[in-house]
Amino acid sequence: MTDTEVRDRGGQAGTEPATGAALALHRLSKSYGAVRAVDGLDLTVPRGQTVALLGPNGAGKSTTIGMLLGLIAPDSGHAEVFGMPPERAVRRGLLGAMPQEGGLVSRVTVRELLRFVAGTYAGTHAAPLPPEEVLATARLADIADRWVDRLSGGQAQRVRFAVALAGNPRLLVLDEPTAALDVESRREFWENMRRYAERGTTILFSTHYLEEADEHADRVVVVSRGRVVADGTSREIKRVVALTTVSVTVDGETSWLGRLPGVTAVEVRGDRARLRSSDSDATVLALARAGAVRDLEVAPAALEDAFLALTTEEK
Ligand SMILES: Nc1ncnc2c1ncn2[C@@H]1O[C@H](COP(=O)(O)OP(=O)(O)OP(=O)(O)O)[C@@H](O)[C@H]1O
Ligand SMILES: [Mg+2]
Repeated sequence: MTDTEVRDRGGQAGTEPATGAALALHRLSKSYGAVRAVDGLDLTVPRGQTVALLGPNGAGKSTTIGMLLGLIAPDSGHAEVFGMPPERAVRRGLLGAMPQEGGLVSRVTVRELLRFVAGTYAGTHAAPLPPEEVLATARLADIADRWVDRLSGGQAQRVRFAVALAGNPRLLVLDEPTAALDVESRREFWENMRRYAERGTTILFSTHYLEEADEHADRVVVVSRGRVVADGTSREIKRVVALTTVSVTVDGETSWLGRLPGVTAVEVRGDRARLRSSDSDATVLALARAGAVRDLEVAPAALEDAFLALTTEEK
């Protein structure tokens, strides 16, 4: 038994320390060869917040989460969960996680799996939820006696969620929890999530979707190339990320387009101009007033473009 474990025995069952943030990442960095997966990332999340980690493929979300869970050793910097090293928070049942990938064992039923997971907390200072309560919370009661390797994608995702809940965690970390789910399963997943969050649980989830972050998080942290490039309420983030492209046919001179309200970039090809705008209403109104334009089109900019704009803006 290590020193840490000995000290652990003095802790109160399943309760987090009274003060401090739910999680704190201090200048975390991790490289794989020449790839800087996470590059000096700082993030503090107070208790009770639901935070979305939003970023494109390869942004470093899973690597960050891996270090937060104590599964990946950082090259430098460190992670704290309720003021303690992640491993200790896991042992106390304070931290529950749903990984991006990860198969479920075969040849057991859903109920047996959850009983097994609850059993792993025996003899620790965790206060796991009774398996029946986990089944109800994750809406698995009606499929509790099915084999876990015979479930649909959405059902398997619910089981993964249930496993994350088993220790009755105060911090839930979910890596792209709704990837591969259809619209109905997504809706159902977030409904379950919301009910669980009402207990005051802190939640950190990663996603590619601005809409998902917008709808389900109090705070959105945009990650790109291993760094936090924006951090705020979804309204604040949308102002920067939810760019719009306004296209128009212009006769003659185009230099004035860049001075229109909301316009952040102008691209001219022949007589067609594409304006990137952070306030399409203002841009379109100003274009209409100017009069010398035709064939106006307004379309949302691709999220990848928005991420790129954010990353370059920051430099
Ligand atoms: N074990 C590994 N070995 C080598 N490179 C890795 C490893 N894990 C991650 N990377 C690289 O680190 C970068 C960040 O990957 P990471 O999985 O953290 O991104 P992500 O934001 O989770 O992406 P996604 O949205 O696709 O899940 C990527 O360039 C990836 O290829
Ligand atoms: Mg990932």
